[in-house]
Amino acid sequence: MTTKDVSLYYDELHRWTEKDKSFQVFSGFENDTIHRFLIDAGSGEFSPDTIYKFIDPHMPPHATSRALDAGCGYGGTCFRCLRVHGGRWSGVTISREQWSYANGIAKARGLEGAIDFHLLSYDTPLPGRYNVIVAIESLIHAADPSATLKNFISSLDAGGRIVIVDDMPVEHVNEADAGFLANFKQAWRCPVALSAQAWTALAQSYGLRLAAKEDLTHLLKPRPEPDLDAAFADLSSQRADKTKRGFARLSDAELGGLHLERLHRRGTVRYVMLVFEK
Ligand SMILES: C[S@@+](CC[C@H](N)C(=O)[O-])C[C@H]1O[C@@H](n2cnc3c(N)ncnc32)[C@H](O)[C@@H]1O
Repeated sequence: MTTKDVSLYYDELHRWTEKDKSFQVFSGFENDTIHRFLIDAGSGEFSPDTIYKFIDPHMPPHATSRALDAGCGYGGTCFRCLRVHGGRWSGVTISREQWSYANGIAKARGLEGAIDFHLLSYDTPLPGRYNVIVAIESLIHAADPSATLKNFISSLDAGGRIVIVDDMPVEHVNEADAGFLANFKQAWRCPVALSAQAWTALAQSYGLRLAAKEDLTHLLKPRPEPDLDAAFADLSSQRADKTKRGFARLSDAELGGLHLERLHRRGTVRYVMLVFEK
């Protein structure tokens, strides 16, 4: 599994998202994000914006952010946080499609002075120094989380924060779920997929302090398993045709997503926010 493969994976998801309206429901094109919808316990809304309620308290004071969105997708978090928190926002993504789409939005909104996007891996030297680094559903792709974290720390100010939101398997996965987890990791190009405990131990080994931890799994809406079985049969039957049309990676994403939904349902994979301070 290579960075190139992950970039082709997201490029392919982009091309599919452009033509499949039902896929867009999960992909949040309308608010420029590709992250999980969560229940807002206050309004009851199921929305890709809910996550910001959890992230916002950990942002630097208004207008002082020098922020990096590591694995920024279409830049939705940069656009939203610039509007709410001000400051300066940068995003890196390894998908050329996402990068040009995000740049297009920044240009159309006249935000080029406050936001910049880079077609770059978060494992290479980062384009600036930051007082906050946000990574929503991107670090699960890290092939060497220790190297990724070390790279972040080298560009982070003392007192700066790293906010990680991601799918994190429990420490001890039972035998019944181990196969689903392995299939999910393979399908979604997530070779390591650390647990929350392992992320925390790693961060602490680099001298970071755990400033906050929120398990948000209860805010997801995984379908009942019989529905997932039916969806799996349906999407599996479409795989050969999608592969023939050049969308094998998209098919992986769909089937991997169903494995993940099952693992959320069973509580084997948690959706967690971790905030570390340097
Ligand atoms: C599920 S999307 C999440 C996008 C965005 N964080 C959001 O919330 O909408 C995962 C993102 O991680 C990025 N990504 C994966 N591996 C990366 C790497 N090595 N360097 C930079 N970005 C990476 C992908 O390009 C994609 O933008």
